[in-house]
Amino acid sequence: MSKQEILSRIEELRKELSYHNHQYYVLSQPSISDFDFDHLLKELIKLEKENPEFFDINSPSQRVGSDMNQDFKQEKHNFPMLSLDNTYSIEEIEDFEKRLKKITSEDVEYVCELKYDGTSISLRYENGVLVKAITRGDGVQGDDVTANVKTIKSVPLQLMGDDYPEHFEIRGEIIMPFSVFNQLNKERAEKEENLFANPRNAASGTLKQQKSSIVAKRMLDCYLYYIPGEQLTGATHWENLQQAKSWGFKIPEVMKICKNISDIKEYIEHWDTERKHLPVPIDGIVIKVNKTKQQRELGFTSKSPRWATSFKFKAERLESKLLSVDFQVGRTGSITPVANLTPVHLAGTTVKRASLHNADIIEKLDLHHGDYVYVEKGGEIIPKIVGVNTEKREANAKKIEYITHCPECGSELSRNEGEANHYCLNENACKPQIRGMIEHFISRKAMNIDGLGGETIDLLLSNNIIKNIGDIYDIPAMGDELIGLEKIIYPEQYDISDIPLSRILYALGIGLKTMPSKISEALAKHFTTLENLSSASLEELISVVEDSAKATKIKEYFASSS
Ligand code: IVH
Repeated sequence: MSKQEILSRIEELRKELSYHNHQYYVLSQPSISDFDFDHLLKELIKLEKENPEFFDINSPSQRVGSDMNQDFKQEKHNFPMLSLDNTYSIEEIEDFEKRLKKITSEDVEYVCELKYDGTSISLRYENGVLVKAITRGDGVQGDDVTANVKTIKSVPLQLMGDDYPEHFEIRGEIIMPFSVFNQLNKERAEKEENLFANPRNAASGTLKQQKSSIVAKRMLDCYLYYIPGEQLTGATHWENLQQAKSWGFKIPEVMKICKNISDIKEYIEHWDTERKHLPVPIDGIVIKVNKTKQQRELGFTSKSPRWATSFKFKAERLESKLLSVDFQVGRTGSITPVANLTPVHLAGTTVKRASLHNADIIEKLDLHHGDYVYVEKGGEIIPKIVGVNTEKREANAKKIEYITHCPECGSELSRNEGEANHYCLNENACKPQIRGMIEHFISRKAMNIDGLGGETIDLLLSNNIIKNIGDIYDIPAMGDELIGLEKIIYPEQYDISDIPLSRILYALGIGLKTMPSKISEALAKHFTTLENLSSASLEELISVVEDSAKATKIKEYFASSS
């Protein structure tokens, strides 16, 4: 093939792949099999690799992202990114309408949309090519996350048609579908990484990833719902969005024109029930004045448009039966009561357990065995029990009594005055505490000892090969006792001479945040003189160590050693 022929084949492939991409990710109407798509993509990647002079940053091949770390530069918004007023009742929506009618004399028609629960984004196009994607930031300027947004398949890199403005900006929401969120947290749990509390946090956390290749794997989606300023000339918001749709944007399907409050009420009620079946999270609906002329008349306050408001749904609440209460012992000896429930489907996940937090909460709920309880999932991943359906309580049901002794080691629990939590103080002989301490100690953010997982630790503990953190360092010398466990030994990682003091303290669970500066300074001085410990700056020390509960331990230690 001549260079000219190669270029036209590359262009043809890019066009074809963009078309199929739009069919699949924006319209949900696949026009080609995954196999055939991959085949075309491979051909494109090969040709681009062999002919680097035809590289194009907006080629469909670039959706895979890059492994290079990036810094996010701040970028000013062309139009401020405002928020929306919230309402929680039909009466408040009626008040919203009254305010509108004071300003505009004509009849008002509304567009109702879903309020997507993700992270907002502003997309800027020059001559139909995506040039910038900016987060909300403080509303005036945000982070330039263009490289990451380019990996989101429903975001067009090149607009379709030819009637788009030369400079064009559109706004929407980047969201993580429930299915992706659940899978991501499952994988994180397996790797013992922190879980994302909800799809919104997962979406915004993903968008701030330094490597766009990671973003590409997270399967984010992007709905566009607002074109700021007077960029388009349609008489209504609806028409403007339909025009944007023709250029390839994913415009929400479930918008509705509502003529009056009773239409709005119907839309709210419908989606308050139906949201349980949506693949993506929403937390309410948005009501917008449809006519652009009226929008202009109404204008903005400093925070939000006067022509729009949102209606927030109440957290989803379901009834479930309390099967039993477990009392878990944490790494610090703190006891957490956990309710086991008959499974219910709530906000995208199956809920079988709910935290009861502490004795006071159980007391306040007046929880009895076999109670039917109301479970709610707010913004967080762990559901809450918010009440009891006392009408369904069996006549002879017994009250849930808080335990007095540790369920693991049997020692008496203690509760400090004014504190909500009970503790098991037997830290040197209570199995889950030792296990938790060791797991924390070897974890990535602490001593980062590889090759030791939960199961191996259990095995080592139950065979009495190790009894505490210190014993981990004897493993390399244990040869014969470890047949079958050789894989866990990575002696080079037992060299702690390069590990900053801050990390070691964190690994030991010693907190410094609330420690008076005099003591922490002295402490840093004290430790940095110790052989084998590299000097850690105090800021580093304090920033790494988040848990302040044990700060007093150091205080005590320091008082006794000085
Ligand atoms: S319109 C000038 N429409 O909710 C304000 N916002 O709480 C234009 N949101 O910042 C926003 N779904 O991030 C609009 N259909 C929708 C929305 C929506 C979600 C978000 C958006 C906004 C926030 C306000």
